[in-house]
Amino acid sequence: MRIITVPDYAAMSRVAADLVSAEVAHSPRSVLGLATGSTPEGLYAELVARVRMGTLNLSFVTTFNLDEYIGLPEEHETSYHFFMRRHLFDHVQVREYHIPNGNAPDLLAECRRYDGLIAEIGGIDLQILGIGRNGHIGFNEPGSPFGEGTRIVNLTPDTIAANARFFASPDQVPRQALSMGIKTIMRARSIVLLASGEGKAQAVAGMIKGPVTEALPASVLRLHPDATLIVDEDAASLLTREELTSA
Ligand code: F6R
Repeated sequence: MRIITVPDYAAMSRVAADLVSAEVAHSPRSVLGLATGSTPEGLYAELVARVRMGTLNLSFVTTFNLDEYIGLPEEHETSYHFFMRRHLFDHVQVREYHIPNGNAPDLLAECRRYDGLIAEIGGIDLQILGIGRNGHIGFNEPGSPFGEGTRIVNLTPDTIAANARFFASPDQVPRQALSMGIKTIMRARSIVLLASGEGKAQAVAGMIKGPVTEALPASVLRLHPDATLIVDEDAASLLTREELTSA
């Protein structure tokens, strides 16, 4: 896994935007995999700024988001549909964007439809990921099988607690979500994982120097031929310089 260490969140966001910009400059019709959460907000702000400045064109790009809560209306302000509109799609034009439908009448069929759409378009070129404090990627919590495609997941108490900050109270956080599975994520041609802040330091250290294990889902990325971690100093604080350069 390639590791790029940066001083802080702003630098992480700029470097991530540079990688996305390079991908899109190389192939304007790229297929991007996108994440939600606090981590990529700065990246999306950078992309919006670059589109406004005229140095980036996303209008031929197709995007697929990683996940969505089950049973939350799309217009609810904590849905991932709402998040993506607020941070990206209300501001820049893409060719087409896709987000799993957590209100589909048949959720298993929705999972198959989503993986089918990704396959039909030829796969994801560049997948952006954040990492949970417990090492999850997408909503693939510890113990998620490496071999599964898009799926229905039960959120762990840890993830519900972490996401409660976006809701009026913890009991309003949905207990289930649809998430690209690890197999879907690993099929992306390249993957960029972003990690910022002390809260991620333990998960990042485990991912880099621990075993590759379903107990720490992000560790699977070490098996990917083109995965890059962009990590700020706080999130890298439990790794030595040698561990950061030899991974
Ligand atoms: C969101 C997602 C999650 C987040 C992770 C980190 O689409 O897939 O895996 O990337 O929970 O969340 P933040 O960035 O809020 O710390």
